[in-house]
Amino acid sequence: MRVPEELETAFKNGFQEILERFAAQKGLIPEAGSLGSERFLARSVIPHVQKLSSLFNREENTAGQGSGLDPYWKESSNPGNLRLAYFLSFMPCNLFRVASIWSELGRLGFRWPADRPLNAIEFGAGPAAGACGIAAGERFSALGLSKVATWALIEQEKAVLQMGADWASHYFAELGFRDWGTRSFHRKIQLNAGPQSGFLPRSAPRFNLWVASYFLNEFPESSAELAESLVRSWDRHLDEEGLVIIVEPALRAQSRRLLEVRRELLRIREKRGIDWLQVLLPCLGHQACGALEAKEDWCHEEVSWWRPPYIREIDEMAKLDRKTLPFSYLVIAKSRRARDQILPALAGSGERAHRLVSPAHLEGRDSEFFICGKEGKRRARYRAEGDSFERGDILLGAEIRGDSQASRIEKMKGRLGK
Ligand SMILES: C[S@@+](CC[C@H](N)C(=O)[O-])C[C@H]1O[C@@H](n2cnc3c(N)ncnc32)[C@H](O)[C@@H]1O
Repeated sequence: MRVPEELETAFKNGFQEILERFAAQKGLIPEAGSLGSERFLARSVIPHVQKLSSLFNREENTAGQGSGLDPYWKESSNPGNLRLAYFLSFMPCNLFRVASIWSELGRLGFRWPADRPLNAIEFGAGPAAGACGIAAGERFSALGLSKVATWALIEQEKAVLQMGADWASHYFAELGFRDWGTRSFHRKIQLNAGPQSGFLPRSAPRFNLWVASYFLNEFPESSAELAESLVRSWDRHLDEEGLVIIVEPALRAQSRRLLEVRRELLRIREKRGIDWLQVLLPCLGHQACGALEAKEDWCHEEVSWWRPPYIREIDEMAKLDRKTLPFSYLVIAKSRRARDQILPALAGSGERAHRLVSPAHLEGRDSEFFICGKEGKRRARYRAEGDSFERGDILLGAEIRGDSQASRIEKMKGRLGK
């Protein structure tokens, strides 16, 4: 996915200072310059970063096993440093992922209605990476969000929820969103525990933006049960014209599970004639998922960013490579408007909008890549004439000949790249 240059470079300078000021004020780090100290990072941060990394990267682990971070938050011998390691090392990456999705909506012409205050909720907020990601997205790639906003943060772990609420208030103000506030809800969400179960209690209000970042995979329920609970909650607690942004890891198991949730959502939509439920992104239609057709396949995005200097240092010390950030995602709209009205940049492409779902490489004078569209996923070539393609690019009105194994794009009406 290509993001605007302003967002891509936004974290190179400035972010580290904002974060250091906050962490020093809250006593999370010894002093404002600590993030520049190799000794401090090596002692207090890197061991936890490595543990968390191996927990998150256990490929076949945990999708749907419900293990997640919960036991880990508690079991660590030094929970304070564990929270700090997550905050310093993982939160900014998830923040950037969410901001990138916001910029993708912007690239496709989505605009927030001028007279609608933001009334948002983040589930499994942890250190509020999702709420802060929307703020960064809006600051560096604006969709016209209102100056007044409330964020409800839901999280089962009290200390990390407090950190998230404090950090979000600090970051919002630093970005100039002085009338954005938070409310914290310390709560363990349970989906199958009797009448009060569900993402929100019945008495909860409606929201117009739902964000869940690296959260759904921590549930033990099946994709069908998750989808069922989601639709029920959106029916009651998502405003008309509201948006839902779900971000999940790019690993095969977790990514496939998100694709299965999409499939189940569309099944429910079809079966019950729910006309307000639209999957907006990354798929450009409600077709059967191209990746789920093959057992070993999955679908993810990737964004590049200029890392804050201390994250480059952490990466070097912990032997991580996060120059690019992979992730899987879904954006859902509760809207009866046609997709072209919601995402006007796609207008006129009808059924013929395709997304690149792999990197591109050169085959002679052709560019070769996988695309996904109405007819599913296919390998395609295009005589690019020096033009470069990237995962996430969108081809509009493409005329394609051939089958899923070998197609040729004869021509296209347009392309949404940078
Ligand atoms: C991997 S962290 C993600 C945190 C943050 N959203 C981010 O993107 O960095 C997942 C968070 O969800 C919380 N969580 C998991 N299951 C939960 C549940 N059932 N109810 C409330 N919070 C939950 C965990 O405690 C953890 O803080």
